[in-house]
Amino acid sequence: MQTAEIRDKYLRFFERHGHVVVPSSSLVPENDATTLFTGSGMQPMVPYLLGAPHPKGTRIADSQKSFRSQDIEEVGDNRHTTFFEMLGNWSLGDYFKTEQIPWMFEFLTSELSLDPKRIYVTCFRGNDVINKDTESAEIWQKLFTEKNIDATIVDFPERDGMQSGRIFYYDEKKNWWSRAGVPSNMPVGEPGGPDSEMFWDFGEHLNLHEKSAWKDEVCHVNCDCGRFMEIGNNVFMEYIKTENGFEKLKQQNVDFGGGLERLAAAVGDDPDMFKIDVLWVLIHYLEEMSGKTYGESADVTRQMRIIADHIRASVFLVSDGVIPSNKDRGYVLRRLLRRSMVAMRMLGSQADWVPNAVAAVILTYKTAFPVLGENTAIITKVIEEEKNKFSATLDKGLKEFNKISSQHAITGTDAFNLYQTFGFPWELTRDLALEAGQRPDEEEFKAEFKKHQDLSRTSSAGDFKGGLADHSEVVVRYHTATHLMQKALRQVLGEDVWQKGSNITSERTRFDFTFPRKMTEEEKAEVERLVNSWIFRDLTVKREVVSLDEARKRGAIGLFGEKYADEVSIYTIFDPKTNEVVSLEFCGGPHVEHTGTIGKFHIQKEEAVSAGVRRIKAVIE
Ligand code: ALA
Repeated sequence: MQTAEIRDKYLRFFERHGHVVVPSSSLVPENDATTLFTGSGMQPMVPYLLGAPHPKGTRIADSQKSFRSQDIEEVGDNRHTTFFEMLGNWSLGDYFKTEQIPWMFEFLTSELSLDPKRIYVTCFRGNDVINKDTESAEIWQKLFTEKNIDATIVDFPERDGMQSGRIFYYDEKKNWWSRAGVPSNMPVGEPGGPDSEMFWDFGEHLNLHEKSAWKDEVCHVNCDCGRFMEIGNNVFMEYIKTENGFEKLKQQNVDFGGGLERLAAAVGDDPDMFKIDVLWVLIHYLEEMSGKTYGESADVTRQMRIIADHIRASVFLVSDGVIPSNKDRGYVLRRLLRRSMVAMRMLGSQADWVPNAVAAVILTYKTAFPVLGENTAIITKVIEEEKNKFSATLDKGLKEFNKISSQHAITGTDAFNLYQTFGFPWELTRDLALEAGQRPDEEEFKAEFKKHQDLSRTSSAGDFKGGLADHSEVVVRYHTATHLMQKALRQVLGEDVWQKGSNITSERTRFDFTFPRKMTEEEKAEVERLVNSWIFRDLTVKREVVSLDEARKRGAIGLFGEKYADEVSIYTIFDPKTNEVVSLEFCGGPHVEHTGTIGKFHIQKEEAVSAGVRRIKAVIE
């Protein structure tokens, strides 16, 4: 069964049970500052789980694009991916356990024809405040028993070993779900609840446990050896954390999430996730291009998995508007692309593999996600540009890396020099070095990085020229806009951007800054978008006089003509609702009090001033 068929069967099944199927939300969360990426299906549903009416009713289902950047380092084994689709269905104060659990059982065993004898489930064993979920365990027991399958309920780990049970109670570390994890980690206002998970057993005969690092321990459904794989999680989301502990939400919700790729691996009965059709397309292509065979060596397998996962994730990220940069989402994307290109090099790529790999992903997914088809040109262009930029650097950097590592083990300082000169991110040098059995010191790398930052600050202190034409209302608005622009430039282009000078009149702001090349149209658009989003949020602007030490400690930048005295004036632009600091600069002022008064910001021109220095002219409309 193909992955697309499983997705379709799931959505149609829940449609038959009264659900409205909604399109996937973006990987870039809207109105949610708590996280960089959408990492689960429920994230866009939070307001509705808390009680806001969903425009489509109380039964919703979808297949949500999800991305977990914390898993980047794990990619390379047989089951971790950064991007995945999460199938989800929600009851927003509608049905509860007695409907959800039997539906799930029917979906797995009838729609997907999974053998119920190879499905195991877990339930919440309770804690000081919330009861053991015996109701779910009993529903499962009835379902298995109806299929003549012994369904003993076991408190894990009191009786262990797989022979002893079918339904296992685990504690809150395993069977409680909230975005923040266990109950004690949840902030006030966060919803959560007990959950019931389903596992597929790949079978004892594969000896996965015996071959794993856990071989000396007893295997159980939550063991990490790979014999069992979680294929879905039914969260019974009926609690909210309050100042006084937990209260019931005003509605009982179901939040189901199941990894589509994992379900496909269970249906294919192969623990290697990369064998499912949507990933195998890429692996197969890499085999053809490299002349190497998946599985021929651990390294080749690992590299092919990294490329397949990272290119797939990159295509979806770019399609949702992320562009490579040195900050936040852009940095994660840049890391994915650079890691996949390094892996290609290691596989021996001579030819240009990236465009075809990108095309393969788009072709595979464009029926389910038509937006990929619509965005083909921009996806290809953005990835291509990043590839070109990195290729040249990679050639030079790899030569240098090989030279150093043949002389001595790579140190943290070497890693910093590779970063500084060739743009090699820390992770890349570390991964290269690890392959050669070397372990550079991350602390040393960070110390070098910081030393460099301090130096850059000091050296730009004398460069300030120009300044404000006057202190008229319009010039003051331009001045605050210039602070926001500097911040946006650093966010989009990276922290090597330093102000070289500025000149602000009632017609425009002119801002000179360090950066080695022309900005792309996308980068300019992103800077504009960021500045306008901060203006729109009506952030508060605050002046403080603090000691130089404190200003440094808080990371103030800019050095707007202030002499380095013991006491300095700094301006913070922050969100009064969340206290998020957007900009913090050394500055004598004056500024507006609220960014909402600035007007709409627009970049008119970006050009070279001298080698390594660019100039932006921007207006507010
Ligand atoms: N929200 C639950 C999860 O992400 C279903 O596992």
